[in-house]
Amino acid sequence: MKNLFDIKDYVVVITGGTGVLGRCIAKYLAEQGAKVCILGRKEEVGQAIVEDIVKNGGVAKFYKTDVMNQKIVEQNCKDILADFGRVDTLLNAAGGNQKGATITPDQNFFDLKADEFQKVLNLNLTGTVIPTQVFLRPMVKQGKGSVINFSSMAAFRPMTRVCGYAAAKAGISNFTAYMAHETAMKFGEGIRVNAIAPGFFITEQNRALLTNPDGSFTQRGKDVIRQTPFGRMGKPEELCGTIQYLMSDAAAFVTGTVAVVDGGFNTFAM
Ligand SMILES: NC(=O)c1ccc[n+]([C@@H]2O[C@H](COP(=O)([O-])OP(=O)(O)OC[C@H]3O[C@@H](n4cnc5c(N)ncnc54)[C@H](O)[C@@H]3O)[C@@H](O)[C@H]2O)c1
Repeated sequence: MKNLFDIKDYVVVITGGTGVLGRCIAKYLAEQGAKVCILGRKEEVGQAIVEDIVKNGGVAKFYKTDVMNQKIVEQNCKDILADFGRVDTLLNAAGGNQKGATITPDQNFFDLKADEFQKVLNLNLTGTVIPTQVFLRPMVKQGKGSVINFSSMAAFRPMTRVCGYAAAKAGISNFTAYMAHETAMKFGEGIRVNAIAPGFFITEQNRALLTNPDGSFTQRGKDVIRQTPFGRMGKPEELCGTIQYLMSDAAAFVTGTVAVVDGGFNTFAM
């Protein structure tokens, strides 16, 4: 029987591919033989990741993007099809919390700025919907492909201080289920849509909430660890296996799921 987890030659598009989680996943997938398209805003960072992958014998290319701009994403898709001929997997990893949308400990809900709330909703939710719409087209033509969205613990349980981020991620879990149903009914079982819900990993978008400038944990960081049965933050590489599983034929009958990778955080009640 063939290796169900084999992803050799898969063309994988990763939005937020220059981020901490996206770049780690990109490197791993390239090591497994996938052709990796890194979509990001920062050309220099993206090119450095590509160089690193290519130096290690992998195939990768950088495309400058803004996931909230449909025209740019459509151009990215055209360029990728010209370069690689197909798209097998879309990882919607662009996103994260934003400082302006965070309520500080001495503030309350009345201090929330509606325009900042809107921005974080747009980045996470609309910034997932637009690439999905664009990259789904070649997948439907091929009759095969899958999308993996990035949800969060905040989707299961709203967390203090980040109500916009939490609402957006709850929206992503809901959108994942909606799209799984929509694609299966309209385009058949070759198209699958799933999500991953990482626990807590220190990255650019949450560093200031979870760590102090000297690297020690803030009270919030300590609370996260106390509520994580494994007693620690996650390491970015711990997401790679779940991503590979969801995008591969090992998950051929899996659609609409939100795979939790959290050291047990979501099981914890008291
Ligand atoms: N780190 C965690 O603990 C955690 C937990 C759950 C979910 N997530 C999700 O994982 C995903 C990856 O985030 P990360 O933790 O690696 O953070 P990160 O800040 O390191 O990466 C986020 C990336 O998104 C990119 N981005 C922001 N706006 C963009 C735009 N308009 N167009 C294109 N790219 C844009 C950033 O440039 C960055 O590269 C996010 O969706 C985040 O919400 C992270």
